[in-house]
Amino acid sequence: MKFFVDTADTKEIRALAATGLLDGVTTNPSLVAKSGRNMLDVIAEICDVVPGPVSAEVAATEYDPIMREAAVLRRIANNVTIKVPLTPDGLRACKALSSDGAMVNVTLCFSAAQALLAAKAGATFISPFVGRLDDIGHVGMELIADIVQIYRNYDYIRTEVLVASVRSPLHVIDAAKLGAHVATLPPAVLRSLFVHPLTEKGLANFLADWAKTGQHIEELKSSAGTR
Ligand code: G3P
Repeated sequence: MKFFVDTADTKEIRALAATGLLDGVTTNPSLVAKSGRNMLDVIAEICDVVPGPVSAEVAATEYDPIMREAAVLRRIANNVTIKVPLTPDGLRACKALSSDGAMVNVTLCFSAAQALLAAKAGATFISPFVGRLDDIGHVGMELIADIVQIYRNYDYIRTEVLVASVRSPLHVIDAAKLGAHVATLPPAVLRSLFVHPLTEKGLANFLADWAKTGQHIEELKSSAGTR
């Protein structure tokens, strides 16, 4: 499963990219607004740090302005992925952009029927929002199961399921069990995946025992002097 981080905070992105485990980045208008920065500058900086797909979302809602905004965003870097809303105009733009060789992420997906339309429009990624479905009393992960099953039924579909609106490590595990291709995670959720209390406790015990030996691996010579 690929891990993207869902933020426009470049400090966070740099720190997470240093782990070597980051495959891409997603942003949206709310996240760019939160950064307080010029969108072109922030997307360019992210594209420099992360070589994988970096989603930059259009703010227009009609076909022609969407295409004009997409042209501006595509000029930033080769790894920019144009993010469009799941609307008739958004999908029309998706079809045109993907036919022209652009990566496209179709966002705000809340039904399997919408996901099927996005695949037909040639989307590189479909972004179903699990957390926001959970928020209104639905089971977001059921939508992931449906989309993964439907996409697997058709060889022509190359669209990757990008699980979005992720709120917890459990969302990540459940999505991976279902075979979703990508999860985009808030930085705090991505960091939480590293953590287990038994790992911390076990490491503390190993280090305490090792300290008692007084040895330092880098300074050691074998007793026979052969290494
Ligand atoms: O970027 C799309 C999605 O991940 C937003 O998540 O937490 O605002 O529902 P959230």
